[in-house]
Amino acid sequence: MKIAVIGCGYVGLVSGTCLAALGHHVVAVDVMEERVKQLRQGIVPIYEPGLSELIRNEVAVGRLSFDIDTAKATQSAETIFLAVGTPPAKEGGYDFSYLFSAAEIVAKAANGPKTLVVKSTVSPGTGSKIAQMVAKLSPHKIEVVNNPEFLREGTAIQDFMQPDRIVFGASSPAGIATLREIYQPLIDKGYEIFSMSRESAELTKFAANAMLATRISFINEVSQLAQAIGADIESVRMGIGTDKRIGPAFLKAGIGYGGSCFPKDVQALVHQMKTLGLNPLLLSGIEAANTRQKQIFAKRILDVINDKKDAVVAVWGLAFKADTDDVRESPAFDVIETLLKAGVTVKAYDPQAAETARKVLGDKITYCKTLAECTWGADVVALVTNWNEFITQNWEMIAKLMRGKHILDGRNCLASGRVTAAGLHYHAVGRPELKPGEGKMGSMGVVSAG
Ligand code: UDX
Repeated sequence: MKIAVIGCGYVGLVSGTCLAALGHHVVAVDVMEERVKQLRQGIVPIYEPGLSELIRNEVAVGRLSFDIDTAKATQSAETIFLAVGTPPAKEGGYDFSYLFSAAEIVAKAANGPKTLVVKSTVSPGTGSKIAQMVAKLSPHKIEVVNNPEFLREGTAIQDFMQPDRIVFGASSPAGIATLREIYQPLIDKGYEIFSMSRESAELTKFAANAMLATRISFINEVSQLAQAIGADIESVRMGIGTDKRIGPAFLKAGIGYGGSCFPKDVQALVHQMKTLGLNPLLLSGIEAANTRQKQIFAKRILDVINDKKDAVVAVWGLAFKADTDDVRESPAFDVIETLLKAGVTVKAYDPQAAETARKVLGDKITYCKTLAECTWGADVVALVTNWNEFITQNWEMIAKLMRGKHILDGRNCLASGRVTAAGLHYHAVGRPELKPGEGKMGSMGVVSAG
């Protein structure tokens, strides 16, 4: 099928490339001329493992190309995917201006019947508004359907090509039929399809992210009690996660969640419910608990520094999670702002996200090229992103580089015994502090089964 994908961001670029890999002929469109130019030169503007290679392959076989002209791409396509940004709106909820303007261009350019697939995350009911708008703008039938993405940054290609499920939202059998045709190669491999109304599909996306965020805020809140009574939240995680009704995933206590989805989607859900006169008691607590979790971690760093003058903190990680260069809503920023306000000098290192972070933080901190440079002379190391590079460190070398002796593990990802064997203090989230020489070598200190 001939497909146009409007928006070459994290979702559009991955979706367009994967649709090409499924055998479709895809034109990926972006309004940013520089981005289209880079893509045409084989330069990929985002870090997503495996994406550059897949783009190169799909361009080489002639299934994928890039353009700046939405109208032109619409006219040569049967189906148009809208994957443009839906950033948070100041008054709460979403700013859908990019989405509606792209839909308007598509409708006005349509030179025959089209299917318009809303891939961007939208509030329930938005698809119907788009359908009403395009029906007034075009004499041709434009079938508006919803196909939410469940892509995690860092594993986006795998999440697209080996999905837990694919959701189709449509108001007619024709819409479902077109989506089935597009995803036929995955259906043939046995991946599960759920067809439902547009509103149900739109709400499914929100409910999925809100559920995942709830789990994280839940375990983070319980970790505060664990910290207070000397329990170990990692043991508790295994103790509850082995209940098949609960499962261990998305129950990792830490510094709090970030990213372009959870914070935005949870607040949009709360906003929409309040707009409808509903009272989201539980959902309102998810974001508040997350904000508090970041503040608690920052305060613990200051407690360890204990008002030391000319204190230096080495922040390990700037991305909102490992395997991405995305810093949107990164917990690292909340921690860094708190440290700077307290007069602390901050040095930071991130394998991928230094440049994206610099666009936000400017020169308020020192960006280091290596972990050693970042760690040199630091009183405290604060790990805020769980990059593998940090987990497999030589702690004797780290201890020699530091001026102080304290490691704060904001992601509970380090082998505490190795840290303390190097003569360092190990602090984590919802786990007892370990002094030099304490704790087990290698393991995370989680109780073994049986
Ligand atoms: C999320 C959803 O997982 C994905 O399905 C949706 O399409 C987009 O939003 P993403 O934001 O890329 O994906 O990252 P994810 O892996 O879900 O992590 C989100 C945040 O939660 C990160 O900051 C991560 O560090 C944090 N997290 C995740 C935890 O704190 N604990 C966990 O157990 C898991």
